[in-house]
Amino acid sequence: MTFDAMLLPKAELHLHIEGTLEPELAFALAARNGVQLPFASVEELRAAYSFTDLQSFLDLYYACMEVLRTREDFRDLAAAYLRRAAAEGVRHAELFFDAQAHTARGVAFADVMGGLQDALDDAALLGLSGGLILSFLRDQPIEDAEAVWAEAKGHLDAIIGVGLDSAEVGNPAGKFEGIFAEARALGLHAVAHAGEEGGPEYVWDALRSLGAERIDHGIRSLEDPELVRHLVDQRVPLTVCPFSNVRLRAVDTLADHPLPAMLRAGLHVTVNSDDPAYFGGYAGENIEAVAEQFALGREELALLARNSVTASFASEERKAELA
Ligand code: HPA
Ligand code: ZN
Repeated sequence: MTFDAMLLPKAELHLHIEGTLEPELAFALAARNGVQLPFASVEELRAAYSFTDLQSFLDLYYACMEVLRTREDFRDLAAAYLRRAAAEGVRHAELFFDAQAHTARGVAFADVMGGLQDALDDAALLGLSGGLILSFLRDQPIEDAEAVWAEAKGHLDAIIGVGLDSAEVGNPAGKFEGIFAEARALGLHAVAHAGEEGGPEYVWDALRSLGAERIDHGIRSLEDPELVRHLVDQRVPLTVCPFSNVRLRAVDTLADHPLPAMLRAGLHVTVNSDDPAYFGGYAGENIEAVAEQFALGREELALLARNSVTASFASEERKAELA
């Protein structure tokens, strides 16, 4: 029997919960909430999953979020994801959520958080641990981030960290320095998307301005040998998302993906799914695809799985269980 890379026990560390909204659920929620999606059918929506860059994806991603309105919607969304993840060997999942994209539409922050937390609580009964990472939208005014952050401070026990996502190029991290410093002082973890479409300078910026402990994507770090040295020396994990990089044209094909070069460089790489409903696969499919594409053996797959656990923000006790 061949080794089943798909089922490798692992942690998922780069997952936007809104990016798990499958077309079928989007239409079900649209009907439940009386919201009109700008597509006539599941097939038509799926046919729109053809992206030229990050922004072309973000436009559709934010449009589909319109169907998410109630605490129950967020619970159903996260419950569907966690069920699927568990079936693929994910044993710990850290979920990004884009609170600003919901509060800007009049959805209460407490309903977003509450629904996601309900699903995580249910998943815990099935042995899946996890947490929520409040992600700020780097292309939106800092005042919007500050308003959400002020609300989040009333729910600190339900958040494990802060993150930064959305359109990278032209939106440096610096303006979020104050929020991240405060979040870190309050004991939250700090992560940031960087080096996805932007160059290595965006990774340096995330490390220096935000104190990011993990870099989400970071694939362009390889362009700067000094940065690679720093990331290796400091053991800064990079949460790499192969399908996302192909679909958003950060790389031409999976064969061109820098994952093998990143592993050879000694970087602390993990494999993740980003927005699996849109990019063609969840954590298991991403691992399986790179295993096949790059003929990864047992040892390399075990390293990727181990990296995902050590790079996680699970407690030391939980990490020992997952090891
Ligand atoms: N990059 C930046 N922002 C995002 C992404 C991404 O891959 N997915 C959802 N928001
Ligand atoms: Zn992402």
